[in-house]
Amino acid sequence: MTDFAGRHVIVTGASSGIGLATARMLAARGARVSMLARRKEALADQARAIGDHAAAFAADVGDKAALEAALAEAVGHFGPAYGLFANAGLAGNFAPALAYSPELFDEVIRVNLTSVFWAIQALAPGMVEAGEGSILVTGSMASKRGMAMNPAYVASKHGVLGLSRAIAVELAPQGVRCNCIVPGFIETPAFDLIPPEQAARINQRVPQRRMGSADELAEVACFLLSPAASHVTAQNWAVDGGVLDTLEV
Ligand SMILES: NC(=O)c1ccc[n+]([C@@H]2O[C@H](COP(=O)([O-])OP(=O)(O)OC[C@H]3O[C@@H](n4cnc5c(N)ncnc54)[C@H](OP(=O)(O)O)[C@@H]3O)[C@@H](O)[C@H]2O)c1
Repeated sequence: MTDFAGRHVIVTGASSGIGLATARMLAARGARVSMLARRKEALADQARAIGDHAAAFAADVGDKAALEAALAEAVGHFGPAYGLFANAGLAGNFAPALAYSPELFDEVIRVNLTSVFWAIQALAPGMVEAGEGSILVTGSMASKRGMAMNPAYVASKHGVLGLSRAIAVELAPQGVRCNCIVPGFIETPAFDLIPPEQAARINQRVPQRRMGSADELAEVACFLLSPAASHVTAQNWAVDGGVLDTLEV
């Protein structure tokens, strides 16, 4: 069953794309959903559109104090968290590794990786106390493959997959699961700036010959977060139309 039966799930990066689609689906399946992202107005509008089962708590996840304050507010509002979908992420810049800005490298690691660690440290004690909990982090194909021209993103997404495995093994005896979802090419606002000819090239690289939708990703995210996945932990699950594990010659 992917019914959340009133359980509280916190979603970061919930103002658009994958996080928003997942927040909507979680609420439709009975969860109480706390939505985090930086854009306060957009986030509040999205939460209002979902209804009483959703609430917005604006914060930059890369700011530890702001993140912790937003998480505490969310827990104050809906009670201890059963689930955390740590999904907020930055793409970084496309630049050669040897010329990559050290400041941007730090920022991408802080938002994509360190903030996930902070959120887990803030919320997992409540899960351990409850004897159940589910953490899902958003990786990338760059969690499993090297990629030129974006060393910060690749390092951060490898890191978040490793972090999810470390947390999974450590908290499994206490009833807390932790998994990593691996989006392939998912059509979200992150792709809005891509010219049509590049989008066509991307589609050709996917065995299914199309990008995925945010809802297709959210469907798997909801399953992994839900009690239906009760014996699933330390896994990474690609939603990628077959890109990662195939070779077309
Ligand atoms: N779409 C894909 O094909 C794809 C592929 C691989 C991995 N991913 C990963 O999927 C996740 C979601 O991306 P998306 O495609 O859904 O892109 P998106 O539509 O641009 O969403 C990114 C979300 O993250 C939030 N965010 C970014 N920086 C933040 C920060 N410092 N603090 C709080 N929130 C922040 C954004 O909200 P605000 O701007 O309001 O803060 C937004 O809600 C990311 O981790 C991304 O790396 C996506």
